[in-house]
Amino acid sequence: MKFGILTSGGDCSGLNAVIRAICLCISQNVKNAEIVGIPDGYGGLIRGECFPLKREDYEDILDLGGTVLRTSRQPFKLMTVSDNGTTRLQKMCENYRKMGLDCLFTLGGAGTHKTAALLCMEGCNVIGLPKTIDNDIYGTDVTFGFQTAVEVATEAIDRIRTTAASHSRTMLVEIMGNKAGWLTLHTGIAAGADMILIPEIPFSPEAVADFIVKQRRSGKTHTIIAVAEGAVLASEVKFKKSERTFIRTERGETTVTPHLTEFLQQSTGFETRASVLGYLQRGGTPCAYDRLLSSRLGGFAAKLACEGRFGVTAAVSGNRITFNALTEIAGKYKLVDPKGAIVNFAKSIGIGFGI
Ligand code: F6P
Repeated sequence: MKFGILTSGGDCSGLNAVIRAICLCISQNVKNAEIVGIPDGYGGLIRGECFPLKREDYEDILDLGGTVLRTSRQPFKLMTVSDNGTTRLQKMCENYRKMGLDCLFTLGGAGTHKTAALLCMEGCNVIGLPKTIDNDIYGTDVTFGFQTAVEVATEAIDRIRTTAASHSRTMLVEIMGNKAGWLTLHTGIAAGADMILIPEIPFSPEAVADFIVKQRRSGKTHTIIAVAEGAVLASEVKFKKSERTFIRTERGETTVTPHLTEFLQQSTGFETRASVLGYLQRGGTPCAYDRLLSSRLGGFAAKLACEGRFGVTAAVSGNRITFNALTEIAGKYKLVDPKGAIVNFAKSIGIGFGI
């Protein structure tokens, strides 16, 4: 049997650990198996590029950040657009066949899964694996890469807290996550943030300012606010995403953080600063939890392939590794429930959400 592996979309820690586990499991269980890596995600498949993955390529990459296969973003909406009479989807299917693949493993996030579902509908044997620091893939409790990003962002806030305390400042810490606030929510709680602002709970800057002033009056000397990259003002909700982006671009901003920092400095009178954590959260070695999760998911996906179970994506449900049909989950997101248990818990210990 011939197996192909690609990593697609934004990278995260744990991708190499998954690649390693897939390869190890296949090499243990399938006689004369051939495994190839496809470079740059769907980009490599569109171009028809692949290279053999030999033992020395994967056996020592468990703790390596990034992806040895490299990655790229290939927007889903362009997959079915015709380019000189052929769509990217058609090129990928053609190349899948030319490469002689029996199965393709696609390691990626929600966008990657959408394209994977299309490939399945065209007759390719695809198995997805749930990757993203955003933890927003529908149908799985957790994605690999998420916990490492929580660890990195938590350590960053721990460091920011000491400087915030020394200077009696309000510090905004911007955390990745455009659609979903999972990373900000988990990090905010783990790092003892005073406030958490996430896309699922539009906030009012006045409520944030009131919260800070009240806290200071009660004796708190500094404030930590965990702000998701995709956090939105309640006053912005009426706008479409494109209109919101236009308004922010006019102000030379991409996220709400600069505007909120300025507003809080003016309205509370307390010194206010912001730190954007950015790509720090995606790089570096996976934490032990992600190494274990990635290895389990990779091994499980390889077993699915050996059983000929295609058109699915590996997933976590409770303590079990399971799978979902790609067509069932494609195009759906798992968002934070504003009335859910974890938000209610955070509120119960006094964390503010700016409402
Ligand atoms: O991969 C998820 C993510 O890190 C999001 O949290 C973030 O919004 C986005 O990717 C950044 O994408 P890019 O790497 O294209 O700048």
